[in-house]
Amino acid sequence: MDIIIKEDYAQLSRYAAEIIASQIKSKPDCVLGLATGSTPIGTYQELVRMHKEDGLDFSQVRTFNLDEYLGVRLDLDKPYHMDQSYARFMYEELFKHINIKPENIHIPDGQAKDPKGVCQWYEDAIRNAGGIDLQLLGLGGDGHWGFNEPGTSLGSRTSVVALTKQTLDDNYEAFYKKANIARAQMPHFAITMGIGTILDAKNILMIVNGSRKAAVVAKCLEGPVTSQITASAIQLHSGGITVVLDEAAASALANSDHYRHVESMKRQYGL
Ligand code: GLP
Repeated sequence: MDIIIKEDYAQLSRYAAEIIASQIKSKPDCVLGLATGSTPIGTYQELVRMHKEDGLDFSQVRTFNLDEYLGVRLDLDKPYHMDQSYARFMYEELFKHINIKPENIHIPDGQAKDPKGVCQWYEDAIRNAGGIDLQLLGLGGDGHWGFNEPGTSLGSRTSVVALTKQTLDDNYEAFYKKANIARAQMPHFAITMGIGTILDAKNILMIVNGSRKAAVVAKCLEGPVTSQITASAIQLHSGGITVVLDEAAASALANSDHYRHVESMKRQYGL
């Protein structure tokens, strides 16, 4: 596991975007797993900048998003702050600014009549695309990846899940309160890639910022692997793993000096 500690959110975002850009340059038709939430916004802004200023080409890139709320749909007629779908988030924060082909974008359909069928279709589509080359991930306040809430099996596949009270509270503060949407109208279910699905990705890039996440970052990276912190499954991944943190998110790690040392050695010796 490469644990990289950057000074602040801007540096973290630049570093993460560079990893994604090198993946695209080395394999122009790569399959990217993408995430939502406030954390990746800076990374997406940097990718958009690289597209506009440096010609980073997304024309062959294929993407699969981690998750989508159940019961919502992309509604471009609504103002952005009223459309809670992750499809809208991705459109506004990344897709509308780059040259990705709409047919190469995959996000679970939150309004499908047969959500379980969508889950199976999603698993098949990822497999048929050759698997995910690089999966970008944030970290939920309760230690989740996607919407794999505490208690989810670490081998889980794409499925329909219920959101925990903490996730509903986080979502309310982050979105619904600002949009004046009543708590009762918030989606309580989602379709999410499973932990097993995520672990199948060849490479994982997890980004976390802010002191609010410091305790859960320490549990995830240095605590036991447990279904109570589903992102702790990162410790089981067999491919390339990069975790990029800002100083605040890294502040509760017991071994941060060691991670900094390893990182500087690797840089020095070009490893
Ligand atoms: C949601 C998403 C997760 C994301 C998390 C953290 O729960 N389903 O994929 O990692 O939010 O969001 P934020 O980055 O806003 O803290």
